[in-house]
Amino acid sequence: AAAFDEDCDLLFKAVLIGDSGVGKSNLLSRFAKDEFRVDSKPTIGVEFAYRNIKVGDKLIKAQIWDTAGQERFRAITSSYYRGALGALVVYDITRRSSYESVKKWLWELREFGKEDMVVILVGNKCDLSLSRQVEEEEGKGFAETEGLCFMETSALQNVNVEEAFLQMITKIH
Ligand code: GTP
Ligand code: MG
Repeated sequence: AAAFDEDCDLLFKAVLIGDSGVGKSNLLSRFAKDEFRVDSKPTIGVEFAYRNIKVGDKLIKAQIWDTAGQERFRAITSSYYRGALGALVVYDITRRSSYESVKKWLWELREFGKEDMVVILVGNKCDLSLSRQVEEEEGKGFAETEGLCFMETSALQNVNVEEAFLQMITKIH
């Protein structure tokens, strides 16, 4: 499933999904470029970024796809998931509705994605703990029942961002 590339051993495709505004694009820009944008605009269509990562003795090129959470801005679903080996399903710990949407995102993933995809559930914006609407234990418990890995992150404060992506990439591997 992984393709070969000239300057790396393996190329992996992974996708980001979750409601609009949960922080998918900022998680990706933090991981790929160590950048954060306070004023980021909703994504329209599809964007992607690469990062090369050394796992064991292999150099892996991670190609991460990011699309709009808003239905009207989304790209064609089947092509978005095609060939993806991993997914980060993101919600915002300060917006309960985005957590409740996770079920819907998982249905879509199971309909269009590969069966053995590595899926990480991510509760983002953990820097805003005073406005928290979803307890960490709740997210963790749900992930366990669904057989997913789980992590709370902050793209703003750079908490667990690297860890979430690396966990996905090394599990694919
Ligand atoms: P769509 O592209 O519409 O699907 O949204 P998105 O999921 O890509 O969200 P985006 O990354 O654009 O972030 C939405 C807003 O949340 C922006 O104002 C970000 O600055 C903010 N944001 C993202 N991550 C964090 C975080 O970890 N903490 C805080 N406090 N704000 C964040
Ligand atoms: Mg976006």
